[in-house]
Order: sequence, then structure tokens, then C-alpha cells
Amino acid sequence: MTERFLQICTDREDLSRELCDSFCELAEETIEREGKFRVALSGGSTPQQLYTLLRDEDLDWDHMRLYWGDERNVPLDSEESNARMTRDALLQPAQVPASSYFPVPINVDDPAGAARAYEEMLREEFDGDFPRWDLVLLGLGDDAHTASLFPGTAALDERERWFVENWVPKFDSYRLTLTFPAINSAKRVWFMVAGEGKRRALQNVWNEEKDFHRFPAQNITPDGELTWWLDEAAIPPE
Ligand code: 6PG
Repeated sequence: MTERFLQICTDREDLSRELCDSFCELAEETIEREGKFRVALSGGSTPQQLYTLLRDEDLDWDHMRLYWGDERNVPLDSEESNARMTRDALLQPAQVPASSYFPVPINVDDPAGAARAYEEMLREEFDGDFPRWDLVLLGLGDDAHTASLFPGTAALDERERWFVENWVPKFDSYRLTLTFPAINSAKRVWFMVAGEGKRRALQNVWNEEKDFHRFPAQNITPDGELTWWLDEAAIPPE
């Protein structure tokens, strides 16, 4: 059963600040209760501001476990890499120990092998049928994709695997991504959506008839909490 919440912030800065405060609060209480905080991070530009705020917070990085919900099929030092974006915005400046984060072992010539290796690592970390994340952070593309689950792509129909390579025709390249079941097994999922460029996508995800092949983000239905964190610019017109 998905419990849905909506957090509306004034603008992108306010959104990042609110997300940062809530992230720190959740991390602290989870580590206190369970000894570690296991998060699947999002790529893209929206979370970047959050990550730069987190680097100045007094978080217990030794007991954090940071993973990536998706990654581009590029070297980890590429400008396109989500791991590089996170490293530059957060991991390096906050001196997060390497034992606390787990980049996708990218091999540009073998995305299937890299996806399998990441899944094997996740299966060693999490018991059970799918990973019970403490938190999955997600963005929303203007085409209603999330993670690297793009409209009309094969990964949308994967129900067994946790993490797969996904051919994305519009980029003429592979992406690597958590699958729907591996996201929906989370205790909580936070969508971070900012800017008027996302209004249409949000409108489609919320109000169009359910068709996750067209609007993949519609199929994010965690067995837990789903919170939409928006700035005012992203809110669709009535
Ligand atoms: C990625 C993300 C992707 C992103 C959306 C929104 O690898 O780029 O996982 O799903 O969250 O494309 O991106 P913005 O936050 O940059 O709008």
C-alpha cells in the first residue's frame, strides 16, 4: 500500500533546503535505530543542489550506505557520470569514506556485465526478494521517465532483476537502472521536481490514464511512503 505525501516549496533553493533538513533527520533516526542508512541516489541536476547542501551537514557518514539508482554508460570520471556529479558535489568535499558509497562498476563495452555485477553487490547487501531501501531519491524527466526507466524501453517490463542495462533509443546509448520492483520495495521514495519545464510531465503522471510505458513515473508505487517534493513552478495548472 502506497502512502502519498506532497511537499510544496517556494523555489528550487527552498526545495533543496527542505530536502536537506528532512534527509538529515531521516538519516539520523534510521542510523540510531538500525545502525545504517541505505539510500539510492538520483542523478540529474535537481539533486545536485541537495548534495552540495548535505556536504556541510554533520552526518554520520561512516554509517551511511550510498548507492546509485541509475547511471549513464560512461566512464566514472566523465562529465555525464552521476557518480562523478555526486563525488564533486558531496563525496569529496564532505570527505565521505569510500566504504560508504558504491558506484556502479561501469564497463562501457559491457553494460550488461556491469548491471549484473551491481545487482550481485546489492543482493549481498540486502536480504529478501528486493532491496528494502530506507530511501530512494528520484527525479522526473520532462518525458515522465524516472531513474533510467524511459518511455518505451525494455527495462519497464522487468519484474525479476533488480538492476539492468537499458537501451535508450533517444540517446542511442545504454543506461543502467534499478527496475520498478527494486524501487517499489523501498520503505520510502522521494521525487524531487523543480521548474515549470516539469509541469506537463507531472500533469501526465498524476492525471493521465495509467500507462507506465508512456509515463514510467506512474509505476512508482512503493510499499511504503511516496513523497512528491516540488517547487511552485513545477505545479501543473488546475
Ligand atoms: C539521470 C536521472 C534522471 C533524472 C531526470 C531529471 O541519470 O539523469 O536519474 O532520471 O532524475 O532526468 O533530471 P533533472 O533533475 O536534471 O531535471
